[in-house]
Amino acid sequence: MDWGMSNRMSRMIKSDGKTVMLACDHGYFMGPTRKLEVPRRTIEPLVPYADTIAVTRGVLRTSIDPKWDVPILLRVSGGVSILKEDLSDEEITASVKDAVRLNVSAVALSIFVGTAHEKQTLVNLSKLVDEGEEYGMPVMAITAVGKELEKRDARYLSLASRIAAEIGAHIVKTYYCENFHKVAEGTPVPVVVAGGPKMNTDEDVLNLVYNAMQEGAIGVDMGRNIWQSDYPVAMIKAIRAIVHENATVKEALDVLRENKSVAQLSAASKN
Ligand code: R5P
Repeated sequence: MDWGMSNRMSRMIKSDGKTVMLACDHGYFMGPTRKLEVPRRTIEPLVPYADTIAVTRGVLRTSIDPKWDVPILLRVSGGVSILKEDLSDEEITASVKDAVRLNVSAVALSIFVGTAHEKQTLVNLSKLVDEGEEYGMPVMAITAVGKELEKRDARYLSLASRIAAEIGAHIVKTYYCENFHKVAEGTPVPVVVAGGPKMNTDEDVLNLVYNAMQEGAIGVDMGRNIWQSDYPVAMIKAIRAIVHENATVKEALDVLRENKSVAQLSAASKN
């Protein structure tokens, strides 16, 4: 791997080989998603605990302070909205040249394997990898499922993740699933997991992170289960404990509880 590419990767993936990425790019097709209505308000308190922040260039330019020392993962695919039944009709929506101008650490694009636009999104990936290689810009492929959340099984996710790596993605974001180890083993580049829609309990979130790490993920690129939590800072700290400190779910729940209490005390002292 060339120096520039390697340097960008190592800004996002820490020296222990792991990463906690904070996904805040939902607006690109979902609009003002709950609790991400004002991006800066949601993102700023979480910056000290995020190894990378995933956003679009619009949110980067309007809502992220250029002085914040945090690597950026730039979403560069889109062209659809949540109003459409088929979310797979994506194109590349920002150039690698603009990504370089923005000094980001990687670009991210969705692929929709098995859909009407499978070929289009895979060719998008191949073009982005070609351009990324030219500029030393890592490319993350996201194995998107659109509205078909039931697709998230090991067979499908292994197929989509492997195809992404074969086309040249430098990192793959996929979902956790039963037998996730098969997805991780079959994907010869680092794999991170998304969280998906908000889960019922904090323990469910921490279990997902723990199991994904045990089964071969190098970390998470998670959004709603962090910033839709009533205590986002406590939640991201608990996730960090699992990812970077090998905490068990029980230990991470303790981190969560302690930090919730701190947040409650600080809120009470302001009232
Ligand atoms: C979709 O909008 C993006 O790919 C998200 O970055 C991804 O789904 C991760 O966010 P969440 O954990 O909320 O699913």
